[in-house]
Order: sequence, then structure tokens, then C-alpha cells
Amino acid sequence: MAHPIPQEHSALRNVLGSFATGVTVITTLEERDHRPVGLTVNSFCSISLSPALVLWSIAKSSPSRELFGEGQSHVIHILADNQMALARQFATPQADKFLGVDYQIPDGFPAPLINGCTARLYCQTDQVMSGGDHDMILAKVLHYELAEAPPLLFSRGNFLSAHTCSSTRG
Ligand SMILES: Cc1cc2nc3c(=O)[nH]c(=O)nc-3n(C[C@H](O)[C@H](O)[C@H](O)COP(=O)(O)O)c2cc1C
Repeated sequence: MAHPIPQEHSALRNVLGSFATGVTVITTLEERDHRPVGLTVNSFCSISLSPALVLWSIAKSSPSRELFGEGQSHVIHILADNQMALARQFATPQADKFLGVDYQIPDGFPAPLINGCTARLYCQTDQVMSGGDHDMILAKVLHYELAEAPPLLFSRGNFLSAHTCSSTRG
């Protein structure tokens, strides 16, 4: 039986949360004082291979929102299944989210690089589009790195390890 579209935010969040995703941490540098900034994001998805484009969304209320405007460099880290603590750390507002994090700021790309991830996408914001209480960031992928580590998964409010899921080729 079809259910009416839930009006409660929490009910709608439960419905949308049943779509399982990976987990990313997206980082950039604040231009003024070069402070590293980052947040946990699971709204990431692929859009186009040629040109290489990806999409993710950020709450308009986020203090980081203005740092991801057009032309802004950022790195999308696809988290490995042993990086749940990192996902929680970057989802918790605090003055320095990078405390204790293994990262460096490379020569030639103005964004912090976190180590130990499944993949890293070096991106530049192409367009920002409004979508209700979030803004959608369409980003060009300039280059990328892929590692062996299995990805962290997220579904219905829980982190899952790809190790504990059985897999069949799609
Ligand atoms: C698994 C997970 C996925 C999330 N995905 C998003 C997302 O796609 N967009 C977003 O704006 N916030 C998302 N959040 C919430 C942000 O990570 C959180 O609000 C964070 O503190 C935002 O950074 P800020 O403190 O700089 O605003 C997610 C949180 C978790 C735990």
C-alpha cells in the first residue's frame, strides 16, 4: 500500500535514510587564514564521466557553506570501513575537526588530504544550485586516487562495514 508523503521531518528522514550510501568527508581551506575545514557528507553521487562531474549537497545553515562556492577547490574523501570515528568527528560541529586526524596540505592543491581513505577526488566547484534547505554543489573532478580499502557504508542511521555484507557482482 502506498503511504502519503510524510509531513514529519523525522519520518521523511527515515524513509530517505533507507537508501544505503557510502560516506565521504569533504575538505577545503578557508581562504583568509588557510584553516582546514571539512564535513561528513553522504549526499555525494556521480553525474557524468565525460566531462567528469559529481554532485553533493550542503545545508544552507552550515558555517562551511560559503567556502564551497564556484571555483573553490575541495577534496572528496570516500571513507574506508575502518574510518567510522572520522565520519563522526567531521559530522560534529567543533572549532578544530582535524584534531588527531592524519592529514597533510599538499603542494599544488589548496585542500587538506586525509590519509587512509578508499578514494580521493580532487574537485573544483562548477555550479551551485539551490535545493530547499540545502545547496547542491556540482563539481568537476580534476584527478583522483583509488586504494584497496573497502568502503564504509551508511543506511538507516547506522554505519556498516562492507566486510560484513555479502557481495554478488552487479
Ligand atoms: C553519515 C552522515 C552523512 C551526512 N551527510 C550530509 C550531507 O550530505 N550534507 C550536509 O550538509 N550534512 C551532512 N551531514 C551532517 C554534517 O556532517 C554535519 O552537520 C556537520 O557538522 C556539518 O559541518 P559544519 O559543522 O561545518 O556545518 C551528514 C552527517 C552524517 C553522520
